[in-house]
Amino acid sequence: MQKLIIQGSRRIGGEMNIQGAKNSVLPLMAASVLCGGIVNIGNCPAISDRYAAMRILNHLGCTACERDGYVQIDSGAIRRTDIPDELMREMRCSVIFMGALLGRCEKCRICFPGGCDLGPRPIDMHLSALEKMGAEINIGHGEILCSAPDGLCGAKITLPFPSVGATENIILAAVLAEGETIIQNAAREPEIHDLIKFLNTNGAEIKSAGGRIIINGVKRLTPSAELYEVIPDRIAAATYLSFAAACGGELLIKKCCPSHMDAVIPLYEQMGCYIKCFGSNIYIRSRGKLKTSGTVRTMVYPGFPTDAQAVLMAPLCIGEGTAVFVENIFENRYRHTGEMQRMGADIRAEGKVAVVTGVEGLYGAKVEAPDLRGGAALVCAALSAEGKSIISRAELIDRGYERIEDNLNRLGAAVRREAE
Ligand code: UD1
Repeated sequence: MQKLIIQGSRRIGGEMNIQGAKNSVLPLMAASVLCGGIVNIGNCPAISDRYAAMRILNHLGCTACERDGYVQIDSGAIRRTDIPDELMREMRCSVIFMGALLGRCEKCRICFPGGCDLGPRPIDMHLSALEKMGAEINIGHGEILCSAPDGLCGAKITLPFPSVGATENIILAAVLAEGETIIQNAAREPEIHDLIKFLNTNGAEIKSAGGRIIINGVKRLTPSAELYEVIPDRIAAATYLSFAAACGGELLIKKCCPSHMDAVIPLYEQMGCYIKCFGSNIYIRSRGKLKTSGTVRTMVYPGFPTDAQAVLMAPLCIGEGTAVFVENIFENRYRHTGEMQRMGADIRAEGKVAVVTGVEGLYGAKVEAPDLRGGAALVCAALSAEGKSIISRAELIDRGYERIEDNLNRLGAAVRREAE
């Protein structure tokens, strides 16, 4: 267990490059199972979830190793098709190895995935889609056994909700399936498009328009030797915008993709920050005096992302006025609010709604990261707070943010890590 010790009330400023997207690199690594050869993935973030995905690949018999600034995965030989409980529990994204293994090996044995505790996170849409494609699924004793002895076949699947994970699983299962798969009401997140682009680069035949994805099954993929670069992490970029907004200062965030953040950036302007986007850069200037106003509803892309809800809430705690959050994706995604209250925030959360009334300032306290994004939000609150904060369970933050204390210290913060 790790803890972060943060001395607050320091300005944040300077320049930084944003990391590659967590929610892209993990599906890409699962997709490499289908490639049957060597692929090279660049701009991989140094986050613990990525190392967990590498452990899963190595367990399956692939070789996943760090090269000079990129990850090389050789999936020429797959030796096994089971993923042990302890690896499945490390992250939610492990569930999409199911589609990839079924597609490549026609069978797999996994357990229910872990990941952040955000309320119930069923996988019924994943399973029913795979069944529609010809998979036999048996669930018992916490295990999911899938097989498709005659291979998977294309199907027309209409998702009841544009689930990101289910869309990824279906795409992965359909790439090597017999015939055409059509996904209607598919997720449209940028990370889905990154997955499609990666697979097409390696010989898949996938087209997408709006919420419709058409996958023409191919016999095999032809791995490309070229380096494939993961898209920038839009949630990490939003997090650093929050750090600068809450602390006051000027920050130039480079190597990001502002067009992926159309639903996010205006909210910082509404807070009173000056923002300018040019090319792959976002510049933010905050005077530290913020306005708390408006209603933020989390939605599927291109709406406001659930992953940015907690990190946006942190600077709003110290603005003038009141803001309302409506969390529409997950049932239990306000666990950071209780911890923020320990730091003096005025938040009332009930069900889907949280009402944030801005206070003059926060004060340092001992708090616990409830999950990855909630943990990042506590870092933001602690950076702006008067005095010292100690954030325990910081390893949850490491699941999605690379070298957070090094990055922050370079920008003028005072963050220290200790083992608990
Ligand atoms: C979600 C987010 C994604 C984010 C990721 C990590 C959305 C739409 N998805 O993806 O942007 O990066 O968390 O935090 O914002 N559901 C079912 N049955 C299923 C699958 C999902 O009921 O089989 C429900 C979930 O309980 C949830 C909603 O659908 O309420 C969204 O789930 P989904 O998009 O699948 O979640 P993730 O893939 O984890």
